[in-house]
Amino acid sequence: MTAPRLITVDGPAGAGKGTLARRLAAHFKYAHLDTGKLYRAVGLNTLARGQDPSNPADATAAARALDAAAIARGGLENPELAGDTAASAASKVAAIPEVRAVLLSFQRDFAANPPGAAQGAVLDGRDTGTVVCPDAPVKFFITASAEERAKRRHKELLDRGETSIYPRVLADMKERDVRDSTRAIAPLKAADDARTIDTSEMDADAVFAAALAYIAEYND
Ligand code: C5P
Repeated sequence: MTAPRLITVDGPAGAGKGTLARRLAAHFKYAHLDTGKLYRAVGLNTLARGQDPSNPADATAAARALDAAAIARGGLENPELAGDTAASAASKVAAIPEVRAVLLSFQRDFAANPPGAAQGAVLDGRDTGTVVCPDAPVKFFITASAEERAKRRHKELLDRGETSIYPRVLADMKERDVRDSTRAIAPLKAADDARTIDTSEMDADAVFAAALAYIAEYND
């Protein structure tokens, strides 16, 4: 099958969009950009400078200080980016229009010129199909109930040997959902032409199979 050159995967935290995006990228040998990591890097950068992620001037300066070239070479591997401090700071800087503007051009450039001589790109995040690449030929919106997403996150933390209290994880998840879906700029929502997959009752293999089936259908 000839695959579409650009695939976007959006959805709330913990729904499985990152896993699907990585698998699609590996399958088609495409470059993959986890756009959440850009916002996480800006959030952590702001905190590292001793500044406030909710403050537009602070967060925008931290976004401008990101080294786009280093990121395109795979420089988003800092394990701290996966933590809850980064997640919470990310959702604060993500509500600031200037921060989104700085990151928008980087994301569009990645999609148009995937690094490493890849023939295509897979972007995952919250607005990659609605704002970053509205013309992407194939878009997915991956979702699941807040309870199921919190359950997965709770298990992941316990498996990593960290302390986790389920009601707390669920409350954090809901708080971030509200912040992401009610913000004025680029709120989390499915693109009109996205294929929505609810993963509440599906494992990663079933989600991947459903996505490949949809891509095959797109090619027909
Ligand atoms: O996907 P992840 O949990 O890493 O995203 C962290 C935060 O970054 C999200 O809660 C959201 O506020 C923000 N984000 C965004 N737009 C994207 C990707 C992430 O606003 N495309």
